[in-house]
Amino acid sequence: MEQQKPLNLIIDCDPGVDDAVALALAAAFRDRLRLLAITTVAGNQTLERVTANALNLSALLGLDVPVASGCAEPLVREKAPAADIHGPTGLGDCRLPESGRRPASDNAVLFLQNTILSLPPEEGVTLVPIGPLTNIALLLKAFPEVKPRISHICLMGGGINGGNRTAAAEFNIWADPEAAHMVFTAGIPLTMCGLDATMQGGLTRPQVEGLRTGGGKVSAYFGEMLDFYFRSLNYRNRDVVAIHDATTLLYLLYPDLFATAQLPVTVDCGEGLTRGMTLADRRSFLEDGGPRVTVLTDVKDPQRYQEILLDAMARLDQGA
Ligand code: BDR
Ligand code: CA
Repeated sequence: MEQQKPLNLIIDCDPGVDDAVALALAAAFRDRLRLLAITTVAGNQTLERVTANALNLSALLGLDVPVASGCAEPLVREKAPAADIHGPTGLGDCRLPESGRRPASDNAVLFLQNTILSLPPEEGVTLVPIGPLTNIALLLKAFPEVKPRISHICLMGGGINGGNRTAAAEFNIWADPEAAHMVFTAGIPLTMCGLDATMQGGLTRPQVEGLRTGGGKVSAYFGEMLDFYFRSLNYRNRDVVAIHDATTLLYLLYPDLFATAQLPVTVDCGEGLTRGMTLADRRSFLEDGGPRVTVLTDVKDPQRYQEILLDAMARLDQGA
């Protein structure tokens, strides 16, 4: 069988416990994913904090890629970090070794433009935004010439059956709805890995405990981070902790693991109860409800989802 070329990938993130797991997957699957850069955006924590986390994580995971820091606040809204879920450092109680790595001198928006345009035009790149969409919206607005080079935006955000930040809205979309609207309407093929699927995947308490205490050089840090997640308001009464952001990479690597639907999705940029809601129009009689996005609706095999995550952690421990 012909070996597939690795996928050119850029991860735009706000680490964040589950962002950290997504970066770990990128490291564990480096034979299939060619990570070109990590960019950061304020979201779960301040820009300074999430950038420091991305730098330390890249060193821990042996990811030799540039990290560029982007927007410190949403386009229009006040910033509202999620310290209740991700802790004061953004990585729960976990203290990663200080890497001494420094971010790129260019702002992430400029850095993304340069990186994307410097690729051979026939190659294309997949963007994986797993935080608020501020950097990506500005990139597409300021440098529309990048659009034809972006083959796919595979993002974590939204949900078509309710939210987590509010009853209606998921955190990443709620945090910067105007940016999300700009990205959803940019005309680039888009996959929404939202709560409908991400809440069906995840790890159990014994699995997280196994990571924390299993003696793995890398996985112990992730066990510690996820243990904090389990103690947060969202998960303290649950048996499975969702690892939202990792779902994007799992979808790119194992699309058959998920059920999907093609739906027109609109972001609510209003001020009221439904701010940041991703409203899917499911009226089947509509012939043209607007541009459609691929919505992940289900994880078909949650056990397999767990096995892939745990296997990736084990390989990272072995230095793979
Ligand atoms: C999303 O919000 C953040 O808190 C997580 O990192 C994830 O990107 C889940 O709603
Ligand atoms: Ca995130």
